[in-house]
Amino acid sequence: MKLLVFGANSQLGQELVRLLTDAQIEFSALNTDQLDVLKPKEVVKAVSRINPTQLINVSTYSNLQKAESDPEAAKRCDLINTDGVTALARVCKQLNIPIIHHSSSYVFDGQKKETYDEEDEANPVCSYGKSKWYGERTLREETQKHIILRTDWLFSAHRNKYFLNLIDSCKKNAGKISIVDNRFSPTHAGDAARVILGMVKQVDCNAEVWGTYHYNAMQPVNQDQFVMHVLEEAARLDPALDKVLPSLEIELLPVERPYIRNSALNVRKIMGTFGIKQHSRGPGITAVLEEIYGIEKEKPPAQSNHAVVADDKENQARTTTRAKRKKNPAKKPGQSSPPAKKAAKQK
Ligand SMILES: NC(=O)c1ccc[n+]([C@@H]2O[C@H](COP(=O)([O-])OP(=O)(O)OC[C@H]3O[C@@H](n4cnc5c(N)ncnc54)[C@H](OP(=O)(O)O)[C@@H]3O)[C@@H](O)[C@H]2O)c1
Repeated sequence: MKLLVFGANSQLGQELVRLLTDAQIEFSALNTDQLDVLKPKEVVKAVSRINPTQLINVSTYSNLQKAESDPEAAKRCDLINTDGVTALARVCKQLNIPIIHHSSSYVFDGQKKETYDEEDEANPVCSYGKSKWYGERTLREETQKHIILRTDWLFSAHRNKYFLNLIDSCKKNAGKISIVDNRFSPTHAGDAARVILGMVKQVDCNAEVWGTYHYNAMQPVNQDQFVMHVLEEAARLDPALDKVLPSLEIELLPVERPYIRNSALNVRKIMGTFGIKQHSRGPGITAVLEEIYGIEKEKPPAQSNHAVVADDKENQARTTTRAKRKKNPAKKPGQSSPPAKKAAKQK
């Protein structure tokens, strides 16, 4: 087995590179400075030269807000997430290389109450979601040996300022924070990388597993529940945060484009096909916070792929912090976007 990873510097790419290194799997990893997916001739040359047995694409344009508000950014988003995928799919077809491509729950419109299945109709509502959907479509059209893995919002210590912004904002504003009132299933990028590794192994065994699959961490949450989890855990490591946490007041902003109301995914198909089990997000949150606060990591106990491990902390109602929730009324047409949206950046 010899893998080629595109987008190796992404938060997911970095976790994948770490896992592949640990598993002693041969791979090449390319960043933008080494190869731009928008240069199809270069793509063909690089893939032909490396000649991998599988290609993994985790490169993407991922700035949702910018793609929504800036037409130039929207164009670039579309190019990278659609034309970039076409270039990779064509060379994979030409050289008979299976491709695993990462997509997003933002191909849906968020109107469904329950978690989304693979069979649910895509109806992207924001520029980023549309570009990811067009990317999926071009991949399906161009090459049969593909796997599309959709996940919900990813977090990790790399490239992701969500946790830091949240903690800073809570401290600076004496416990008052504003977040979007959406429902999702945030997933540690390392957990998504584990899933890709599971898929890679099956493809390497010539399993006919082509198609689209969903994965995200266990138990969808409203964003305020997730925020409380992160802040409560962070407060154990941060006395200044611990001090303001009793006055925590969460203002819930209405869900507006580019965000969607519900982006949580159903993972039954991936469990049935690959035997991949869903993990809890708790250990990932702890790992990111430990990294932020510079705490020496203890090696976490390995989570079995054969048993569902529920995190007690997530299952229990959060009782330690009595946060006040305050719904912000929907904006009137023409009103500008609330600045607090930045603190709730999602992909
Ligand atoms: N993050 C999420 O919440 C989330 C949720 C659902 C799905 N996903 C999907 O998961 C995958 C990884 O996302 P991520 O958040 O880990 O990504 P990320 O951290 O935003 O990184 C994107 C990567 O793509 C690379 N890239 C951008 N333009 C490129 C180009 N023209 N040619 C080659 N590489 C290019 C970037 O290179 P530079 O390092 O040079 O900028 C970067 O390494 C994506 O497919 C994404 O759609 C992510």
